Amino acid sequence: TLKVRKRIEETRERALLGGGPKRIESQHRKGKMTARERVKMLMDPGSFLEYDMFLEHDCSDFGMEKEKYPGDSVVTGRGTINGRLCFVFSQDFTVFGGSLSGAHAKKICKIMDQAMLVGAPVIGINDSGGARIQEGVESLAGYAYIFQRNVNASGVIPQISLVMGPCAGGAVYSPALTDFIFMVKDTSYLFITGPDVVKSVTNEEVTQEQLGGAKTHTSVSGVAHKAFDNDVDALLQVREFFDFLPLSNKDPAPIRECEDPWDRDVPGLDTVVPLESTAAYDIKDVIQGVADDTNFFEIMPNYAKNIVVGFSRMNGRTVGMVANQPKVAAGCLDINASVKGARFVRFCDAFNIPIVTFVDVPGFLPGTHQEYGGIIRHGAKLLFAYAEATVPKITVITRKAYGGAYDVMSSKHLRGDTNYAWPTAEVAVMGAKGAVSIIFRGKDQAKNEAEYVEKFANPFPAAVRGFVDDIIEPRTTRRRICQDLEALAGKKRDNPYKKHANMPL
Ligand code: COA
Repeated sequence: TLKVRKRIEETRERALLGGGPKRIESQHRKGKMTARERVKMLMDPGSFLEYDMFLEHDCSDFGMEKEKYPGDSVVTGRGTINGRLCFVFSQDFTVFGGSLSGAHAKKICKIMDQAMLVGAPVIGINDSGGARIQEGVESLAGYAYIFQRNVNASGVIPQISLVMGPCAGGAVYSPALTDFIFMVKDTSYLFITGPDVVKSVTNEEVTQEQLGGAKTHTSVSGVAHKAFDNDVDALLQVREFFDFLPLSNKDPAPIRECEDPWDRDVPGLDTVVPLESTAAYDIKDVIQGVADDTNFFEIMPNYAKNIVVGFSRMNGRTVGMVANQPKVAAGCLDINASVKGARFVRFCDAFNIPIVTFVDVPGFLPGTHQEYGGIIRHGAKLLFAYAEATVPKITVITRKAYGGAYDVMSSKHLRGDTNYAWPTAEVAVMGAKGAVSIIFRGKDQAKNEAEYVEKFANPFPAAVRGFVDDIIEPRTTRRRICQDLEALAGKKRDNPYKKHANMPL
């Protein structure tokens, strides 16, 4: 038994070294932490319990039988983040470039299965050269086993992907199926095919960074939700982010002790909307104004900036914030904003997170670009998501709520629970100028415009019909929302039974 003990000890030691000191050094030289360093920083100190440290690949082609590493190319296990259970896998680039073998996939599947059994989130740290080339289809099968689990887990447990190195080819689809993708600037990239293949097929010259770096995916493609400066920043922010989320769809979102008085007035909100109804202002001032400690974890801050989404707390409760941004494209809804908003609303609804919506929207963005791109189909996603959502929905119209976009933005008519208007609200089919040019064919433009404004550019048409529940002073908004969240905490509503809906994709 002494021999066995020695072997156990030695194997553990070897596992801890991954691909060896030289490759670890090379990882550090690239500004990247190792798989184990990352797990250690992500989890509460001493909480990580590793699984399958002894598991090895079983490939015997290309001399692979002679090159084995205990644990193979991924570190898996469970631990806690601020005391709450979380499963994690972290690909080890120092072992065969973190490439995915059958064994590697088996380890990931094991922790995903356990996470589903007990109802706890999975965080995947991606840093991999893709499919283990020596294993061929065995490795491709491994990806598919993970994909199937990603899909089964969708809407049941939160799934977060941290891309902290290469992630290419089939490998991209596991992160793509998860709820959130976070990247690290300059050291991570995601693409279907690399620059060389792109060059040979389309003759385009691009660098890895241009093709699939953090900037590309957080500002152009919308594939990733946020980018961080380095590994440490990413891991610490993900810890913070984790605190907003419930452990599963059976759990309520966590409530945190709140020292910020729930009933405090926010005087700044009384003057945030400019007198001139076409002047811009920053809707984030409103979100941060009402949120606990002005804390707002924004999702996709650099993509489709005409809509703002993210997480805050109100009187300690997690809420999803959705808001039109008058500062960008006047807050119009377009294709990208609709898709961004829809996906966020669906996440909140799946995970019992109440949705607070601030509306200042002049409508959907006109033009051939939008129509040819399918704004009808994409705009319908946001409408669908709000209409389908059964979590508490609280809406505040700060200024414009025009046309179809008024309906879409969590209106009373889509089962909004409480809907408010500020005194500056204007609820109408369209702005005065456009309206007068159609109904009066532009005759007496100035006079008719004035009449239209008098009639519609105020909260009364909506309030007299009960389409908003109250007209509130902006400074009282935080208090009102906190009271509503309290009252709505017990809300229960079911949608009709169905296998699944057929949302326009
Ligand atoms: N299968 C098996 N081994 C792989 C691998 C893979 N898919 N990708 C990388 N490796 C190994 C390398 O052979 C190398 O091994 P070594 O340390 O024994 O020399 C090690 O991982 C590191 O790779 P290296 O190419 O030296 O690292 P890099 O940082 O220069 O480049 C990549 C990283 C990902 C760009 C590059 O490895 C690559 O292009 N890999 C193949 C990607 C691919 O097409 N995968 C299939 C797509 S599904």
